[in-house]
Amino acid sequence: MDERSGGRRTKDNIRIYEPADFAGMHAAGRIAAEILDEIIPLIRPGQTTGEIDRVITELVEAKGARSATIGYKGYQHASCISVNHVVCHGIPGEKTLKDGDILNVDVTVIVDGWFGDTSRMYVAGKLSRKAERLIEVTHDALFKGIEAVKPGNTFGDIGHAIQTYVEANRMSVVRDFCGHGLGRVFHAPPNVLHYGQPGTGPVLEEGMFFTIEPMVNLGRPETKVLADDWTAVTRDKSLSAQYEHSIGVTSDGCEIFTLSPGGVFHPTYR
Ligand code: MF3
Ligand code: CO
Ligand code: CO
Repeated sequence: MDERSGGRRTKDNIRIYEPADFAGMHAAGRIAAEILDEIIPLIRPGQTTGEIDRVITELVEAKGARSATIGYKGYQHASCISVNHVVCHGIPGEKTLKDGDILNVDVTVIVDGWFGDTSRMYVAGKLSRKAERLIEVTHDALFKGIEAVKPGNTFGDIGHAIQTYVEANRMSVVRDFCGHGLGRVFHAPPNVLHYGQPGTGPVLEEGMFFTIEPMVNLGRPETKVLADDWTAVTRDKSLSAQYEHSIGVTSDGCEIFTLSPGGVFHPTYR
């Protein structure tokens, strides 16, 4: 049987991985997270997003990994770099970072067939108070979602935890993009919504691997995709932020595969 289609599946077509599979996900997740650690010195005013992506491409290769995004549905880069009001899927290029820009860098690598997918926020130069609040709330919203992960809870519980936290801070959760199952493939069932009602959706089981990757806007939640067919922006031009971890459900909670080896996931490391 094709390895990508093997294993047990739930009635919602969610693959259940074996305990031994966690090690493969840890290895892939660690490399993705190392790359996000190592690009920190590059994030400064005057830098182009294309140069950041070029370095990421080199790091992927130097670590013996493969980029999951190069060639994915025609995408040609090793990262997505989403600046300010770009919600996700920003294409690296000649755009120069300026003082106070906030950006999400999203990297997915393949290591021995396992996918590691993570993204986090960076700041070029000086962080404004409103951007700082947005970044803080988005980071903490991801962890509210992660705290809801344990067997017996549902995907709706995860979305609800994120949504209530974000909206209590008078920000909005993007509805147009979601997290996803992953493992031996990049995007698999289920869709991991970052909003929802408690007790709804598929029930979490040990051995499920998926991402949680909330996108949070300072203004309204609506997005639109630009003419390049990738770049998603906020319709009202408000600032947007995102954090993403790849995780696996354990007997009593979850393991995060993409923890920052340097402990620099959140920009308050500075
Ligand atoms: N890494 C993104 C995610 O979190 C997907 C990027 S696909 C690309 O699912 F083609 F835009 F790179
Ligand atoms: Co993802
Ligand atoms: Co990603």
